[in-house]
Amino acid sequence: GAPVSYDYTKLEVGQQITVEWRGKPVWVMRRDDNMLQSITKSEEFVADPESNEPQQPEYCKNEYRSIEPDIFVAVGICTHLGCSPKLFADAGSLEGGWLGGYYCPCHGSKFDLAGRVYSGVPANANLEVPPYTIDTAAKMIVI
Ligand code: FES
Repeated sequence: GAPVSYDYTKLEVGQQITVEWRGKPVWVMRRDDNMLQSITKSEEFVADPESNEPQQPEYCKNEYRSIEPDIFVAVGICTHLGCSPKLFADAGSLEGGWLGGYYCPCHGSKFDLAGRVYSGVPANANLEVPPYTIDTAAKMIVI
């Protein structure tokens, strides 16, 4: 399919939009400092903190699973049975031990704000990060 371009400067801090890429929903999210800190704090609770399973391009195999720390791109499909996880940016109060991120309503899988799956939930892989580039001159993310 044709590449999808999105002007990421249109995103407010904390905002997430969904674009369609090869028939799949892809999230583009602008994370703030609190969100980045919650990813660091999630480290001990997630099943694959180093993202060793090949669920992202090599250049996104880092703590934030992204090219730029503040811009997160991921396929919005649960790695359990394909439902659509919902964003709860500040979910510390929702359920003990979960610092917020993405929650799948189908069977309760939880992911952090880098799409890393929590231990002990039905899904057993981090959310997929598609290949993408960031053109800083044009302010475009190209998926
Ligand atoms: Fe998401 Fe089962 S499809 S938890």
